[in-house]
Formats: sequence, C-alpha cells, structure tokens
Amino acid sequence: MSAKTVCTIVGARPQFIKAAPVSRALAASFREVFVHTGQHFDYGMSDVFFQEMEMRPPDFHLGAGGGTHAEQTGKMLIEIEKILNSVKPDYVLVYGDTNSTLAGALAAAKLQIPLAHVEAGLRSYNRAMPEEINRVLTDHVSSLLFCPTDAAIVNLAREGITEGVHRVGDVMYDALLHNLALARKRSTILGSLGLEKGTYALATVHRAANTDDPARMAAILQSLGSLSRRVIFPVHPRTRKMIRETGLSVSDNVRMVEPVGHFDILILQENADCILTDSGGMQKEAYLLGVRCITLREETEWVETVQAGWNKLSGVDVDAIRDAFETWRPSGERPALYGNGNAAGEICQILNRELV
Ligand code: UD1
Repeated sequence: MSAKTVCTIVGARPQFIKAAPVSRALAASFREVFVHTGQHFDYGMSDVFFQEMEMRPPDFHLGAGGGTHAEQTGKMLIEIEKILNSVKPDYVLVYGDTNSTLAGALAAAKLQIPLAHVEAGLRSYNRAMPEEINRVLTDHVSSLLFCPTDAAIVNLAREGITEGVHRVGDVMYDALLHNLALARKRSTILGSLGLEKGTYALATVHRAANTDDPARMAAILQSLGSLSRRVIFPVHPRTRKMIRETGLSVSDNVRMVEPVGHFDILILQENADCILTDSGGMQKEAYLLGVRCITLREETEWVETVQAGWNKLSGVDVDAIRDAFETWRPSGERPALYGNGNAAGEICQILNRELV
C-alpha cells in the first residue's frame, strides 16, 4: 500500500520551528508535501530556520508575503486550493494562529479534505487580535485538534468542540529538547554580543496591537529604557518599520539587533535574567528554560505559565514593567505543563489511526 499523504501548510517563523519535529516523525510512515506560503520571506525570518532545523526545502513556495490581511490570506487561499487539488492529500496539517493557518484551513475545509490543527484550543478571548480570529475559525473546521494544554481542551469544550480533540502536549517542547543541545554547541551569540549569563534582559515585540499603536510602542521602549540592565532587542521587521516611521528612539541600555536564528534565540533566552516579550512561543520557552518572563500584553493564551508563577502580565504600563523587572522573582516550582516532549510522535500515531 502506498504511503498516505499529509500536506503541511506553514508560512511564519514559529511555524517552521513547530513543524520540524512533526516532519521528522511523519517521515517514518507518511509522504509529506510541504507548502510554505511565503508570509515570512526575509532570510532571518525564514531560510535560517530551514537550515538550522535541517528541513528540506518546501515542495511549494507561494510568495504570498506582505499586503493587507485580505490580500495576503486571499492570495494564499487561491494558491493552496490549486495545490490541494493536484496533490490530493489525505490530511492537511496546519499550525498555530497565523494568516497561513487560516488560509490552509479554509482551503482544506472547502475541498472537504480532513484538517488537523496543531496548537488547537488556545484562546486570548481578545477578538481584536487577528490571531484569535484565525485560531477560532481554524478550530471550528478541524477534524483533529491537537491541544498542547488542559486549558486548551476546556476552551474547545466551551465552544462545543469535543470530538477529535487530543491532548498531545506541545510540539514546541519537542523542538526545544532537540534544538537546545545543538544550540549550546553551535551558537556564538553570547560572545559576539559580549554578554554573560544573567546580566542582561532579552526583549521581543511583534504583535500588531503593540507595534501598530505608537502610544503602546513608545511605552514599551520607555519601559525597556528604564531597566537597570542591558536589554538585547532582536527587532522583528514589522517593529523596525513602525519604530522608523514613528521616529521613536531607544535609550543607550537597549541594543537593537536584527532578528536572530533559532539557536541564537534559545541561547539568548537561556542566559537572560529576564525575558520581556509579546510572543507566545517565548513565554513557553522562558518557562521551559526556567527564566522569568514579563509579558507585554494584557492577556495570554498560555495562562498556566502565569498560574505557575513564572510569567507576569504587565501590559505596557511603564511602572508595572519596571517594578516587575526590579522586584519580582518566580516561585520556584515548574510542573510539566507541556507534556513529555513527544507531542510529534503522538500526533503521528493519531494520524496513523485515522488513516487506516
Ligand atoms: C505573524 C502572525 C503572528 C505570529 C508572527 C510570528 C498573523 C496575523 N500574525 O505576525 O501570529 O506570531 O507572525 O513572527 O499571521 N515582514 C518582512 N519580512 C518578513 C516577514 C514580514 O518584512 O520576513 C513584514 C511584512 O511585510 C509586514 C510585517 O512584516 O509588513 C508583518 O508581517 P505579517 O506576516 O503580517 O505578520 P507578523 O507580524 O510577522
């Protein structure tokens, strides 16, 4: 019998990292057709991850980056439909909450190809976020919903979704276990930036709610400038553009650098005194690495990191951020919230069962 075909659709930085362990696991029993929508296209936002994770080049690259949400998602939808019609996969696999996720999900659902969503069930309950719209819609057209946390299962149940729901753990944890050992060997970032463990903070900002609101962005930069430590700030292209356009400035203790590869960001995180971020992935990585995290948002999908005492939601309140940074230290315990590091293996087993 010929191998069943799974079509993976990704397009943004965190999705390359999440797809890598699943692709490795899929290779044993599936043919995988890999589609890159091109949502992220700069070398440092895309190619570097394929190299570091030793992923083969995508089978299809749609070049659908940039534009408005409708333009970007529409372009992806049109191209993905053509690919699905010619490849005829047995399952489509999408990740997370980006426009690439939604485009892959809609295209598959309309063609009645079963859809599996990795990182299903996350909710911020803030519909102003494009990511919240993407994840809610994707979950509602998925036949398999791979949840990383207990909270995700509860969120889905509240929306009446109980079938096809599996708590498999978090593929980001699988990725971290695989990549951290390599990163420790290969990354030279601490030396090249002249950093020592525990002596600096690491900041990242890319959410539209922060970058596209000059008052919020100004408050974040002011907060970073008020900290008593050096701050390393790898700047996402969206954020760089907004800082340039609004003419905001940064204090001397804040060092803006280009986005870094995955090995470098893991090492920067592992050795930081504190991480300040609006990224979902980094809130989890901070927890898994045992580094305190201050989240520059009012809410989070990763509520268990806050409940466990390792993550503080500060919004963009300058005093709250500075106070948290200077005085707050986590409680100590770090229960295993994200599974056992074999989420990818469990996903493959479940797909195998579905496709017999
Ligand atoms: C997207 C996702 C977000 C995810 C994030 C990871 C959506 C709605 N948002 O946000 O969920 O957490 O990726 O980084 O899908 N750009 C470049 N070079 C690149 C990539 C982007 O210049 O390689 C520019 C784009 O042209 C655009 C801006 O950066 O002007 C934002 O990119 P976009 O893909 O809209 O979303 P992200 O902010 O990256």
